[in-house]
Amino acid sequence: MTVIDLVGNTPLIHLSSVSQETGVPIFAKAEFLNPSGSVKDRAAKNMILDGISRGVLTKGKTIIDATSGNTGIAYAMLGSALGFKVKIYLPANASIERKNIMKHYGAEIVETDPLESSDGAYLAAKEEAEAHPETYFYPDQYNNPANYLAHYNGMANEIWEQTNGKITHFICSMGTSGTFTGTSKKLKELNPNIHTIAVQPDSPMHGIEGTKHYASTIIPCFYDANLPEYFELVSTKNSYSMTRRLAKTEGIYAGISSGANSQGAFQLAQKIPENEKKNSLIVTILCDSGSRYVSDEFWG
Ligand SMILES: Cc1ncc(COP(=O)(O)O)c(C=O)c1O
Repeated sequence: MTVIDLVGNTPLIHLSSVSQETGVPIFAKAEFLNPSGSVKDRAAKNMILDGISRGVLTKGKTIIDATSGNTGIAYAMLGSALGFKVKIYLPANASIERKNIMKHYGAEIVETDPLESSDGAYLAAKEEAEAHPETYFYPDQYNNPANYLAHYNGMANEIWEQTNGKITHFICSMGTSGTFTGTSKKLKELNPNIHTIAVQPDSPMHGIEGTKHYASTIIPCFYDANLPEYFELVSTKNSYSMTRRLAKTEGIYAGISSGANSQGAFQLAQKIPENEKKNSLIVTILCDSGSRYVSDEFWG
């Protein structure tokens, strides 16, 4: 076994206090237990193995991409394990913890204008990759079907088996939308009655790192607008407070988008009619660990 065999097959955790308060069982995939610490290990692994199997990622090439942080950390871990150099473009305001983890795995990082957010990093990485195709393997996580297929073939089946097919609602936020798109698509095939709901920040200027406000951003090519039944809007303030609640009442030290997802699940549970609550089962995603944000002020 090598470190990359540890990607996926994460436990499904019961959010006891949130479930008790709403009267609906709410569970969450512990994605912070992946080897580089986030859900993005799944997509990065699938895109890299796909590149190798298609013969476009060959010995000596450098993996290049834009990422708000976690995909870069996943590429850096996988590059180190598989013997590829890694070059990551990210907004300069990404957390120092994330930048340092990438560097410690041996990756090179290029910082882009924070005012242009992840879209600026995306355009810069694309320009460099397209100018030197002989040097780089460019997975392009925003437009690579191997991203969402990691969740279609992995995450969704795990959730189906771990809930014995009893899941009624799947809800999570979207960065590239790979997690939401792949998981929702497959769950709907397994049971068309499963509700699939996307969590969205309630404004374009938000503090929920890793997630995007779809009305004001570049839309990934594999995003299917028919998959979210509706957008569950969450505020940054409530996402922060749910992140603190997970740490203080569930014993789960998770990141901000995990707080946003759990807040979304909490709001969704309150909308389920009383007579349906007992037979409902909500699943969401704990994308990464709180240790990635340990110096953030919101903990206070
Ligand atoms: C912390 C965090 N949460 C959520 C997401 C969204 O995941 P996806 O790109 O699969 O939509 C990301 C993506 O980078 C992330 O880093």
